[in-house]
Amino acid sequence: MNGRAVGRMVGVGRALGSRLVTNDDLAEHLDTDDAWIVERTGIKQRHFVAEDEDCATLAISAAKHALDHAGVPGDSVDLVVCATSTAPESMPSVACLVGEAIGAAGVGAFDVAAACTGFSYGASVASSMLATGAAKRVLLVGADVFTKIVDQGDRATAVLFGDGAGAVVLDRGDGSSGFLDHILGADGRMAPLGRAGHPGQSDHKLCQNGREVFKFASRIFPDLVEKLLARNGVSPDEVQYVIPHQANARIIHAAARRMEVPEERIVLNVDRFGNTSAASIPLAYPDIYESFETGRYVVTVGFGFGLTWAANLYRI
Ligand code: ACO
Repeated sequence: MNGRAVGRMVGVGRALGSRLVTNDDLAEHLDTDDAWIVERTGIKQRHFVAEDEDCATLAISAAKHALDHAGVPGDSVDLVVCATSTAPESMPSVACLVGEAIGAAGVGAFDVAAACTGFSYGASVASSMLATGAAKRVLLVGADVFTKIVDQGDRATAVLFGDGAGAVVLDRGDGSSGFLDHILGADGRMAPLGRAGHPGQSDHKLCQNGREVFKFASRIFPDLVEKLLARNGVSPDEVQYVIPHQANARIIHAAARRMEVPEERIVLNVDRFGNTSAASIPLAYPDIYESFETGRYVVTVGFGFGLTWAANLYRI
C-alpha cells in the first residue's frame, strides 16, 4: 500500500486560549495539587479561553497562522474541514466561520465530530478529497474548547483539559509527500465511557470513566501504530515522529513500552497544553515541522470518546 502520497503539508499554525492556567492556579479552588496532577497525568499547565474567545476564534487564528506559514492566500483554499466537538453553536459549523474569516467564503466547509480522534478523521477526509481531485488545497483545522463542556468544580476532569486549535494547509502534492494510509474505527457500545453536552448546556457536563478510557487508549495506540506500519511495509526505523493524541503522559509512556518506535520520537506536549481534544495533534506540528526529514514518516494516532480511534501515515 506504500504508493502515491496525497495531501502535502505546506503550512502549519496554532492558537491557544489566552489564559495560562497552572496546576497551582487550579489548586486555589479545587481539592487538588500540582504533585497529583503531574504524577497522574503529566500535565503542568494548560490554556483556557478568555470571555471573548471560543472554538471558532481559536480555529480562525490557527488557520491564519497556517496560511501565513504556507505563504498562500486564504482565497486559494478550496475546502475547509474543521474537526471539533465544541462548536459555539450547532449551526453554523466552525468550518463555515473559518472559511469566511480567511476570505474563502463560497468553498466547501464542514465540521467533523469524532471527539479527540477528530483531527485524524479529518485528515482522512481531506486527503481523500485531494486524491479524487475534488479539492486542490484544503485547510484542515482541529479545534476544541473543553472548558465550555467541563464542570470546573469537578477535580477529576477540570484538571485534564485545555483549549486550543491547530491548523494545516494541505496541497495535493506531486505524490512523493503526503498521506498514504488511514485506519478509522468507532464503537458506540462504549459511548457510556465518556459523554458531554454542548457548550453552554449547564446540566450535561463532561463525565467519563477515566480508568476504562485509560486502559483502552493504552492498548489501541500501540496496536494502531503496529498495524499501520505493517500493512504499509514501513519499518519503525523509518518513522521520524509519532504524534499521539495528548490525553495523559502515562498513556503515552505505557504505549511507548509496547512499541518498536523509540520513545524519543513520540511527541509529548500534554505537559504544556493539557488534553485539547481534536487540537492536540495539530498543536504539535509547529514544534516539529522545520525538522521534518524528506522520505521519513509521521504517524498520527487519535483516540477518544465514542469511543473512536484512528491513525494516519504521512510520508514527509
Ligand atoms: N486531584 C487529586 N485527587 C484526584 C483528582 C485530582 N485532580 N482527581 C481524582 N482524584 C482522586 C480520586 O477521587 C480518587 O480518590 P479515591 O481513591 O479516594 O477515590 C483517586 O484520585 C484516584 O482516582 P482515579 O480516577 O482512579 O485516578 P487515575 O489514576 O485513574 O487517574 C485520570 C485519573 C487522570 C482521569 C486517568 O484515569 C486518565 O487520564 N484517564 C484517561 C482519560 C482520558 O483520556 N479522557 C479523555 C478521552 S479523549 C476525548 O475524547 C475527550
